[in-house]
Amino acid sequence: MKNPITHRALSLAIGTATLAMGMAANAQDAQIDRKVAELMKKMTVAEKVGQLHQLSGRQFTGPTSSAYADKLADIRAGKVGSMLNVKGVADTREIQALALQSRLKIPLLFSLDVIHGYQTVFPVPLGESASWDMEAIELSAHIAAKEAAAAGIHWTFAPMVDVARDPRWGRVMEGAGEDTYLGSRIAAARVHGFQGKQLGATDSVMATAKHFAAYGAAIAGRDYNAVDMSNQQLFETYLPPFKAAADAGAATFMNSFNTLNGVPATGNAFLQRDILKGAWKYKGFVVSDWGSVREMVPHGYAADLSDAAVKAINAGSDMDMEGYAYSQHLEAAVKTGKVKMATLDDAVRRILYKKFELGLFDDPYRYSDAAREKTVLGDVSHRAAALDVAQKSIVLLKNGNQLLPLSREARRIAVIGPLADSQRDLEGGWVVQGERAKVVSILEGMRSHAGKAEISYAQACAPGCTSNEGFADAVAKAAAADVVVLAIGETWDQSGEAKSRSDITLPGQQEALFNALKATGKPVVVVMLAGRPLVFNTIADQADAIVYAWFPGSEGGNAVANVLFGDYNPSAKLPITFPRSVGQIPLSYIQYNTGRPVTDEKNVVYKSAYIDSVNTPRYAFGHGLSYTEFKYSGMTLSSPLMNGAQKVTLSFDLANTGKVEGTEIVQLYLRDMVSSVVRPLKELKGFEKVRLKPGESRRISFTIDRDTLSFFNSQLTWGAEAGDFKLMVGSASDDIRLESTLKLN
Ligand code: BGC
Repeated sequence: MKNPITHRALSLAIGTATLAMGMAANAQDAQIDRKVAELMKKMTVAEKVGQLHQLSGRQFTGPTSSAYADKLADIRAGKVGSMLNVKGVADTREIQALALQSRLKIPLLFSLDVIHGYQTVFPVPLGESASWDMEAIELSAHIAAKEAAAAGIHWTFAPMVDVARDPRWGRVMEGAGEDTYLGSRIAAARVHGFQGKQLGATDSVMATAKHFAAYGAAIAGRDYNAVDMSNQQLFETYLPPFKAAADAGAATFMNSFNTLNGVPATGNAFLQRDILKGAWKYKGFVVSDWGSVREMVPHGYAADLSDAAVKAINAGSDMDMEGYAYSQHLEAAVKTGKVKMATLDDAVRRILYKKFELGLFDDPYRYSDAAREKTVLGDVSHRAAALDVAQKSIVLLKNGNQLLPLSREARRIAVIGPLADSQRDLEGGWVVQGERAKVVSILEGMRSHAGKAEISYAQACAPGCTSNEGFADAVAKAAAADVVVLAIGETWDQSGEAKSRSDITLPGQQEALFNALKATGKPVVVVMLAGRPLVFNTIADQADAIVYAWFPGSEGGNAVANVLFGDYNPSAKLPITFPRSVGQIPLSYIQYNTGRPVTDEKNVVYKSAYIDSVNTPRYAFGHGLSYTEFKYSGMTLSSPLMNGAQKVTLSFDLANTGKVEGTEIVQLYLRDMVSSVVRPLKELKGFEKVRLKPGESRRISFTIDRDTLSFFNSQLTWGAEAGDFKLMVGSASDDIRLESTLKLN
């Protein structure tokens, strides 16, 4: 059944932002439209269906995929439109040459999951998001695109823009965290980074906004699970990053494995037809997720593969990734009228349009240039960018007695732990072409930055830490040192797709290792690697200092060392809440007051609270310390009243009152006090990264307009309601420094 929401309501709901992907507005678009139409006149139905069929290359052949030789024969026969998991100039040239043997010589699109770097590995996306640094994030995506595009790739399956508030879900690692506003800003930055100024430039690739939609809300954080949510929640929280990606020009969308309110996203006309291609007038194409067309059968939504093909394309899924539903059944479905020719044509048109836009008809090999591959992949400036963003991503969670930064003066530092000398674990998941041997481990980074300090090392246990046999050696090294740096956390394969965990405490015996080291009485700095928030209460209470480094990439060891020795003053802020226990999940800073708010943790009787736990998070969204201090003062509003379309400027002074230069990420939150739909206690509405020298201060301003105050009402109409708004500025969602009230007339 179709969702009863009208197009008009949807377009109003989603706002009136200029649609970057609108009509064939300029001459170039019209010219491409003409070329596509001419080509399509020559195509048989089978050839059209071929354009919608995407196969995986040699590296990953799915359980139902045909033999590799059959795939190559199909390419030659013009039955394939795109191939994923093929990379490198040599391979892409070889396979493209087969496509050019087909009757109409339509080139293939080569796609790959270039999620956080191609050869140069950047921090995992959640880590990078902790930088709140749009320029660095855009540059990271641009370098990934440049390297991939030099190695024959036209199209990356990134960015993942799923809002995710359940750290049991291993894929929180791939996104921007829990917040819709921050996530939307990052979605746009990543799309701009991957695609550059114009599609078709050979230092850019097509981006994919995925997974459309609401995949991040899988029930209980179990991957691929069902999603059930109100349209209000969908519109308010989960769709805006996709809209931001579409507005930024994302060339493609990928749908998702989950059902949304009972309908698989892949067969969901409400999502793909009404919202994406209808209200948003999206002009790119939608690729299914891996086999997700076929998976509508086990979901119980399609009777068989043929039914799945019909339901998916009619609902707006243009390309079938490794599903074999379109390749085997679409031609017949068009003949029997279950799928209209116009529906097939629309999907084919969207895909061919992109092939023309990339310039593949002019030169099918333009991304596969051996000389460029060699120079671009060897570009050392890429490592510098990876180091820069890795440093900006490392969150200083705790710094007891200002233990950090470490002094280099004649100190003995014991670097210990299963992840201390690991290279693989620094890269995280989704590494496609990383040069493992060149990854700088934490130990290597510490050694090369140590100056006069003496570094000793003990692994204590292997990654996974299932045995304590090496603990004695580690304890001895700790006892002989002045300070211990302990590198623990998740291994690279404990977060990511299909890596949901019901227990997100430290795996293996790592907490026991911490306890043994702490018992030496030596100060312990914990460096934690992970793709998600972990629960580590003992360490949070007892470690002297904690830095959260995520999976920081190729330059991870140098980034960690720079932070620990103070060559980089940490500035990152958490893009996702860290709970105290799995029982608090899902936990986000987006909280509602309820009719029974907790005002005093000592009195939770008949309150909206847990009686067996502190009710705050362990570390709140937006938290992150620095080696300096920032003072907020003097907040003013240009007017306490806002009328009509008037804008109000909120200003305040930020001063660096500490001893070293540092960067603060100032955050603007607001609460709509009374409204037709209850609003959260705080919603992020703006932020700015401000770098200040010791003693320096600067006046910071945010502009507030009606849009800032707007939300979706129960009719899903976007708008602001008159009344009072609380404005809050601070250093974290739980560290508000200044408040004021604004009235909207
Ligand atoms: C993932 C996608 C990915 C695709 C292709 C799927 O399993 O969900 O995010 O892009 O595989 O590798």
